[in-house]
Amino acid sequence: MSDLPRRISLREVGPRDGLQNEAPVPTDAKIKLVDVLAHTGVRRIEAVSFVHPKAIPQMADASEVWSGIARNPDVRYSALVPNRRGAERALDAGFDEIEAVVSASDTHNRKNVRRSTAESLDDIAGLVALAHERGATCQVIVSTAWGCPYEGDVPVERVVSVASRAVRDGADSVSFGDTTGMATPTRVTRLVGELRWAHPEIPLNLHFHNTRGTGLANVLAALQLGVEDFDASVGGLGGCPYAPGATGNIATEELVHMVEDMGVATGVDLESMIDAAGEAERLVGRTLPSQVLRAGPRTRTIPA
Ligand code: COA
Ligand code: ZN
Repeated sequence: MSDLPRRISLREVGPRDGLQNEAPVPTDAKIKLVDVLAHTGVRRIEAVSFVHPKAIPQMADASEVWSGIARNPDVRYSALVPNRRGAERALDAGFDEIEAVVSASDTHNRKNVRRSTAESLDDIAGLVALAHERGATCQVIVSTAWGCPYEGDVPVERVVSVASRAVRDGADSVSFGDTTGMATPTRVTRLVGELRWAHPEIPLNLHFHNTRGTGLANVLAALQLGVEDFDASVGGLGGCPYAPGATGNIATEELVHMVEDMGVATGVDLESMIDAAGEAERLVGRTLPSQVLRAGPRTRTIPA
């Protein structure tokens, strides 16, 4: 196996990507989940999104959640925004790291944020500049990067051209989102390779959903290309309200469990993350898909 990075950086997205797709939970329970996660060793948490409360009622209390969190100075917290108004709200609330989202496929973008991909890109150009004026950084997340539930495959050229526009407009980093788990390792290798060829310097994050069971295989393909930045959600919480059939992200504890054994450090304490997944499961009141939550780490033994 080719050399893998010695260390990767994980962003925990359960409180946002996860909870947006569950029945609404009380504000104090959300705060508690973020605070529990902030003590697992994970160094980045996407805590909330500033979207229209009618579109996603689950995130209507984003400002309250953010002001209730006991901020751990070792953790970078961020917020997802769908448009300029969301960016203004996030910056006013005090976030210094935001993620703006745009889908590579027009149909998903229209369902998600009610405008075309081109219109979102114009809006994002302005909100990146606004974030920079206010001393914040902005990542641009390109969703449906490996396919769209409405349009099917999305050409790699289109995905790279959406990312390129964001890079030209000043995005500090790019993330590719596999919104409905359509990626496979060869597709990951191809898209990452094309982006690297076009923009060797831009930091790249990858965001996989495990809808079709390929999530960790996709991570492995990306690690072999030297990608060091991944999203994951505790317990495998998550989905997309505008992508029927979408399921959760790769589970943080499954990712940690696999890569740490391969010599790739994450900084995350596996047992603490498994405990946090148990907390997440109690919070949403349903069984979460994480298998490491069920089975425990490979080193856990049972009395003979
Ligand atoms: N947060 C709160 N209110 C917002 C907002 C935001 N991010 N963006 C727009 N609004 C308000 C406007 O101020 C306006 O209010 P007014 O009627 O009082 O003047 C109203 O919403 C309509 O504005 P418009 O720009 O026409 O928005 P829209 O109705 O077309 O909705 C989005 C667009 C992006 C706000 C909405 O589709 C959305 O929140 N989508 C998020 C989807 C999501 O979170 N998906 C999962 C994550 S990828
Ligand atoms: Zn997602």
